[in-house]
Amino acid sequence: KRHLISAADLTRDDAVLILDTAEEMARVADRPIKKLPTLRGRTVVNLFFEDSTRTRISFEAAAKRLSADVINFSAKGSSVSKGESLKDTALTLEAMGADAVVIRHGASGAPYRLATSGWIDGAVVNAGDGTHEHPTQALLDAFTMRRRLVGADAGTGRGLDGRRITIVGDILHSRVARSNVLLLHTLGAQVTLVAPPTLVPIGVENWPCEVSYDLDAVLPKSDAVMMLRVQRERMNAAFFPTEREYSRRYGLDGDRMARMPEHAIVMHPGPMNRGMEITAEVADSDRCTAVEQVANGVSTRMAVLYLLLGGNESAVSPTNARTE
Ligand code: CP
Repeated sequence: KRHLISAADLTRDDAVLILDTAEEMARVADRPIKKLPTLRGRTVVNLFFEDSTRTRISFEAAAKRLSADVINFSAKGSSVSKGESLKDTALTLEAMGADAVVIRHGASGAPYRLATSGWIDGAVVNAGDGTHEHPTQALLDAFTMRRRLVGADAGTGRGLDGRRITIVGDILHSRVARSNVLLLHTLGAQVTLVAPPTLVPIGVENWPCEVSYDLDAVLPKSDAVMMLRVQRERMNAAFFPTEREYSRRYGLDGDRMARMPEHAIVMHPGPMNRGMEITAEVADSDRCTAVEQVANGVSTRMAVLYLLLGGNESAVSPTNARTE
């Protein structure tokens, strides 16, 4: 049985196959009728214990475009608020015949626990666990970078060899940063993290990347600059950086963006704190791919669900399958 818990689970071939399949899925999305019958009769459960806009909606759209039945579970308003455990919630979903469970949870390791517990039979997809990982975000980010920096058709079958990616901000609390570092390294990119010293995790020296505290020095050497939100909800209030000081040192404004090479893009996984890590001028500029990343998230998550549930390369090719 296959799951997607960590970006580290993916070999280069796995990752390139997902990105190439996502390209095929994106072509389906361009058709007048956007649905494939591939997962008809299968059930995908979105199990969200933490808030989400993009990830939950795009997994729902992805599953529906593959004709799966979708059950959306949100901890708010469920029996979790009465003290029900992850195990009993999982057993309930199993009784409903879940073929895949897409889980977001505040506890790092919750998706791994679900995948290895034996409580459910279906595939488990990590949609963000605590400060640990968010592998489908890293995949959609890599898909966006490959399209923009390598070229959609030229990129097929390829990774991101030699591309220089800078990730800026609250690395300490960022599951997006960790998954991106792992996946980008697998795909051959060179990653530099830029953050205040207080927002760099212990043990970062063992990550396959470099660390800098000087954003202005790194920008001219970047092909993509990914800005991260300061996650105040995971911080003790005493450690909140002031907005003014943070944005002066680590925020991306128009002047800083001008230091980037002409071809370089600005990325943000969302949600954005406009005025803190990114100004409205940059967020709304043509160089910012934040909205494109959301659209690419649907194609990428279609690819993940298709490969986990629909079979493999020898199964129905999404481009050959009839639409309905
Ligand atoms: N990027 C991301 O995970 O956004 P959501 O929290 O809205 O899902």
